[in-house]
Amino acid sequence: MSQDLLWEAGAMLKKATFAIALIVFSISFGYVVSIAQKPGSPITVDGIGLAEFRGYDAWQLIAPSQPASGLKAILGNPAMIKAFKEGSVTADKEVPDGAMMAKITWSTRDSADAPGAAMVPDTLRRVQFMRKDSSRFPETDGWGYAQFDYNGTTKTFSAFGTGASFMKSGCHQCHMRVRARDFVFTDYAAR
Ligand code: HEC
Repeated sequence: MSQDLLWEAGAMLKKATFAIALIVFSISFGYVVSIAQKPGSPITVDGIGLAEFRGYDAWQLIAPSQPASGLKAILGNPAMIKAFKEGSVTADKEVPDGAMMAKITWSTRDSADAPGAAMVPDTLRRVQFMRKDSSRFPETDGWGYAQFDYNGTTKTFSAFGTGASFMKSGCHQCHMRVRARDFVFTDYAAR
């Protein structure tokens, strides 16, 4: 093969490599863009989309929770609130299909206006969900789990974790501690 031919072959190979890299980049970039969207869009965790929980911001409060860092509100849809009222958040009665819960987490700051010490929500960090559907989530005792992280700068959500194994090891495994309460930690707080 002459020098010229070799050079030409090398140049073609470089062009091809560049084209493949460009395609791979476009696909991954498109993927990232497609999952970082506002509520109501079809972003999913193993087929559970944020849209399935539309209206969660108006669900009733079950209880707040204050871990070492952050501040949380745990909310339930009407079917979940009914389950608490009827006392079916137990292993033998079980929460019925259709019940859903949201856990909203914020970072905190001291209130600038309150006369005494008062910790208030600062920025939205993430929303986590549980929804009961026995036929859809048999591997996790009927509960489907999803988490969407919030980006305060772009004001968009992105799905965190995917797949049934993620739900199992990332979420359900810890919720197994409260198997006797049908895997629900929070109790309805009196008001
Ligand atoms: C290490 C243990 C642990 C893991 C892992 C975990 N949770 Fe929880 N979860 C809790 C505890 C404890 C609560 C009670 C509320 C609180 O203080 O945060 C809770 C509460 C919840 C609630 C409100 C209903 C309830 O059971 O009280 C939802 C919804 C929820 N978690 C979703 C998820 C999702 C989705 C995942 C996986 C991405 C997950 N959790 C992983 C410990 C865990």
